[in-house]
Amino acid sequence: MKLDVTLGTPAKLDTPLLVSPWCQHDDDSAERPGADLEALDRSLGLMLTRAVTGGDFRARRGELSLLYRHGESGPDRVLLIGAGKRTDLDAERLREVGGRAAARAGDLRIAELTLLLSPSWLGGAVDLEVAARALLEGVVLGGWRFDELRSGPAEDDHRPPLERVSIHLTQSKAKSVTLRAAELGRVSAEAQNYARELAVRPGNIVTPRYLAEEAGRLGDEHGLQVTVLDPKAMKRDGMEAVLAVAAGSEEEPRFIAIEYGARAEGGALVLVGKGVTFDAGGLSLKTPQSMETMKADMSGAAAVLGAMRAVAELGLSVHLVGLIPAVENMPSGRALRPGDVIGSRSRKTIEVVNTDAEGRLILADALSYAARYEPEAMVDIATLTGACVVALGHHASGLMGNDEALIEEIRQVGERTGERVWPLPLWVEYRDLLKSEIADIKNSGGRAAGTISAAMFLREFVGPVPWAHLDVAGTAWAEKAGPYQPVGPTGVGVRLFIEWVRGRIR
Ligand code: BES
Ligand code: MN
Ligand code: ZN
Repeated sequence: MKLDVTLGTPAKLDTPLLVSPWCQHDDDSAERPGADLEALDRSLGLMLTRAVTGGDFRARRGELSLLYRHGESGPDRVLLIGAGKRTDLDAERLREVGGRAAARAGDLRIAELTLLLSPSWLGGAVDLEVAARALLEGVVLGGWRFDELRSGPAEDDHRPPLERVSIHLTQSKAKSVTLRAAELGRVSAEAQNYARELAVRPGNIVTPRYLAEEAGRLGDEHGLQVTVLDPKAMKRDGMEAVLAVAAGSEEEPRFIAIEYGARAEGGALVLVGKGVTFDAGGLSLKTPQSMETMKADMSGAAAVLGAMRAVAELGLSVHLVGLIPAVENMPSGRALRPGDVIGSRSRKTIEVVNTDAEGRLILADALSYAARYEPEAMVDIATLTGACVVALGHHASGLMGNDEALIEEIRQVGERTGERVWPLPLWVEYRDLLKSEIADIKNSGGRAAGTISAAMFLREFVGPVPWAHLDVAGTAWAEKAGPYQPVGPTGVGVRLFIEWVRGRIR
C-alpha cells in the first residue's frame, strides 16, 4: 500500500473517493462545512451543504453519506463519515472512521482513497498527528482479511485490496509531521494484522515449531537476534513446567527469545507472550465448544511478535526482548495428570490440580528466564482465564502487576491506543487460594477471583522487577465485528506495546 500526504484545495483533487470525517453539534445536527470546503461543495453541485443543513446527514457516529461529482473536475465521490459529537472526538472515533472508509471503498470496488483532514476542523483533544495516525490505523486494520486457506475468492467478495491511501491537508504546511504520524499508524496496524494472521491460522499449521520458524523469519527480515531452545536445551535450562505441559502432545515445544537493540544502561524492556498453539485443556479436557477458538491461545505470542516487528521497522532506540514459551496442550497417555507435582525453572514445586490451567505454568518458566536480561520493566500478555471474560467482557483486558507506576503507565497507554485495559487488585490475601497441601503452590485456585489467582501465581515467578500482566482472554478474539475489526482475531496488544515502548525511549 502506498501512502502519501498532499496539500491544496480539495476541489481540484483527482481521486475516485475523497473521505471526510464529520462531527455533529450537541443538538444532533451536523456541523456546517468550513470555508476551505466551499469550492469542493460547488464541484458537488452544493450537495454537501444540502446534505448537512437539510438534516439528511447528521454525522452520527458511523453514519455515512455518499455524494457524487457534479462538475468537470474534482473527486469522483465524496464520502462523509459521521464521527459523532465534537465534544467526544478522540483517536478511537477516527480509527472507526478509517475502518469504515476502508470497508466502503471495498464495497465500491475502489482500490484508492483520500482522507480529507483540515487542521482547523480538528482542534481540541485531537491534533493533526494523532488524527493522521488513528485514521491510518483504522484504514489498515479495517482492510484486513484472511483468505490464504481458501481455494478461490470468497463468494460475493469483490473487494480489491487498498493500493493507495492519501491524506489531504487543506490548510497546514505540516506535511512531514503528518506523513511521519501516518507512517507510524500504518506500520503499527500492519504489525497488528500480522499478529491477527498468526492467531487465525489453525493449530495444524501454527505449531510451536512453526512459531519458532516464524520468529526466525522475522529476525532475518528485520535484523533481530533470535534464539530458539528445543526440548533438550530447555531441559538443560530447567524449564520443567513448559516441558510438563508439552508432554501430552506429539508436537515438540519451543522456547523463543527475540532481541532487538543493544544492551543499554537501565536494562531491557521485556515482553512475554503465552504461546499455546492449541489448548485442548489436557486431561482436564475442555468441552468442544470451548475448544473452538483455542487455536488462538497463542495470541499473546502473536502480539509479542507483532510488536517486535513494528519496533524494529520503526527503528526505535530501545533494548527490547520478546520471550515466547510455545507448546500445545493435549491429552494423551503421556500427558500431565491432575494431581501431578512438577518442578519449574525457579525450583519452586507446583501441584497441577487442573491441566487446563497450563498458561501460567509455561509463563512461570518464561518469567523466571527473563531475569538474565536485568529487565527495567516486564509485561506479559496471555489469553489466561475465562474468568477475565466474565469480569470485563470483550471491551477491556485485565491488568495486574507488582508496580503501581507501571500499572498506571500501561493503563494510560491503553486509553491512548484504544486497546483498553482495566486494573484488578493483587492483594496478598488472594495468595491463600493457591496453597497446596503437598507442594510449594498449586496451579488453580478454583472459580473465585480466577483472573486474580492466575496473576498471583505468575507473581511468584517474577523476580524483583517492575512487572505488569495483561489477561487478554476476552479481547484477543472478536465474536462481533466492529468498525475496524472483523469477527476473528484482534491482534490486541500490538498497538499497546508499540506505544509503551515509544514512551520509554530515552
Ligand atoms: N486458554 C484458556 C483461557 C481462555 C478461556 C482464553 C476462554 C480465551 C477464552 C486457559 O488456558 C484456561 O483454560 N484457563 C482455565 C483456568 C482454570 C482451569 C483455572 C479457565 O479459565 O477455565
Ligand atoms: Mn487452558
Ligand atoms: Zn490456555
